[in-house]
Amino acid sequence: MFKIDVDNINGKTESLYVYGEQSILTELEEHNVLLNHSCRQGHCGSCVLLLLQGDVVHQDCLVPLSQGEILACQSKPITDIKIGSRN
Ligand code: FES
Repeated sequence: MFKIDVDNINGKTESLYVYGEQSILTELEEHNVLLNHSCRQGHCGSCVLLLLQGDVVHQDCLVPLSQGEILACQSKPITDIKIGSRN
């Protein structure tokens, strides 16, 4: 089980505990932390988050990402992580 520290995403700062089997986007939704998203397939880029600590496994995507950015719909935690919004 992994801990996701959510750092002020849509006004929420809290810690979630997950198994790492679902995307970060799905995990956040299940914990009522709602993110912008559209395609859920790594194409639109609307679910970009900052990975502040820890590691994720990230599926291929077409969206150019800067250092430290992840797509919530395409990544799953493989360690405890801390995430924040890009803005
Ligand atoms: S929802 Fe479109 S890239 Fe994640």
